[in-house]
Amino acid sequence: MNKNITVILGDGIGPEVTQQSVKILNAVADQFGHKFTYDYQLMGAIAIDKTGNPLPDETIASCLKTDAVLFGAIGDPKYDNDPNAKVRPEQGLLKIRKELNLFTNIRPITIYPTLSHLSPLKNEKLQGVDFLIYRELTGGIYFGKKSKSEDGNSASDDCTYSSFEIERVAKLAFEAAQKRQKHLTLVDKANVLETSRLWRKVVQKMAASYPDVTVDYLFVDNAAMQIIINPAQFDVVLTENMFGDIISDEASVLSGSLGLLPSASIGDKTALFEPIHGSYPQAAGKDIANPLASILSAALLLDYFNLTEEANLVRNAVAWTLEKGFVSKDIDPVNNYSTNTIGDLIKDFIENKIPTEFN
Ligand code: IPM
Ligand code: MN
Repeated sequence: MNKNITVILGDGIGPEVTQQSVKILNAVADQFGHKFTYDYQLMGAIAIDKTGNPLPDETIASCLKTDAVLFGAIGDPKYDNDPNAKVRPEQGLLKIRKELNLFTNIRPITIYPTLSHLSPLKNEKLQGVDFLIYRELTGGIYFGKKSKSEDGNSASDDCTYSSFEIERVAKLAFEAAQKRQKHLTLVDKANVLETSRLWRKVVQKMAASYPDVTVDYLFVDNAAMQIIINPAQFDVVLTENMFGDIISDEASVLSGSLGLLPSASIGDKTALFEPIHGSYPQAAGKDIANPLASILSAALLLDYFNLTEEANLVRNAVAWTLEKGFVSKDIDPVNNYSTNTIGDLIKDFIENKIPTEFN
């Protein structure tokens, strides 16, 4: 199979973790006789530094004509505490989501038994935890009209949703639930927000077409609590943009490290794959970051190409490193391996070069 992949390394640890994924994709291509061709493009703080624009036109053009986008991370602390900054790295990410119409962001919450001691939750609460968050990604308060008064003393962000925007992401969430435990939970704030009442109305109506799926409705404050007290109850969680941003960070720490969780953003154009974690600037360039969230994002990219065997091999390789303790500093502060070494070990596993005593 021949595929083009646009690679956006981004900021902070983005480059070093994404380079491991490219290494792994190349190993997969060699093993299975595929050809992946990469086009490297700029986005984020690095793009502002080099071009003044967080998302150069060339990047958009490359993403629109490629088969998939692999993205690292975005953000630089020099913008975080400057409320007057005219351009921000994050604008690049928000704009590419819009340009590619990536209306669904899928965040799988997976628990690795060997890491359960790192979870903030007790072991027994982690039994059976395995769910997917379907986050709407191109609407709501993120993209509503923004304004501030002339005197600078008031500001507003509008939150708008249409039935159409809700239906298209809900459809994918219902279909995912049908393939899993057939349980969908809509997270909203329908006791307060008009947009949430629309979400509930649309999802209730759609539920009739998916009689095999049980649908639950939870207010987001309660959902935040349920993720801690009983995370095993969830199968597919569907929610709007802002709530999805918040609860997915919350849910991601259940696994013990934010450095483990991948995500897929899909719409009606090119799909984009990226770790859930941010740019972790304190670790940038030190070869200590956890590359697994990026490598698992590359596995989701392989799934998207329908290369299931290849994707499962990458996931097995990742599980093997965790089992054997070939892990980064976030997972083991004492005995740890560098970003590059972990990438090399996963590559060796894929190429079948691991001494049998480790297998
Ligand atoms: C995420 C990030 C982004 C978001 C930021 C960087 C704009 O937190 O992908 O979850 O809020 O969507
Ligand atoms: Mn986020």
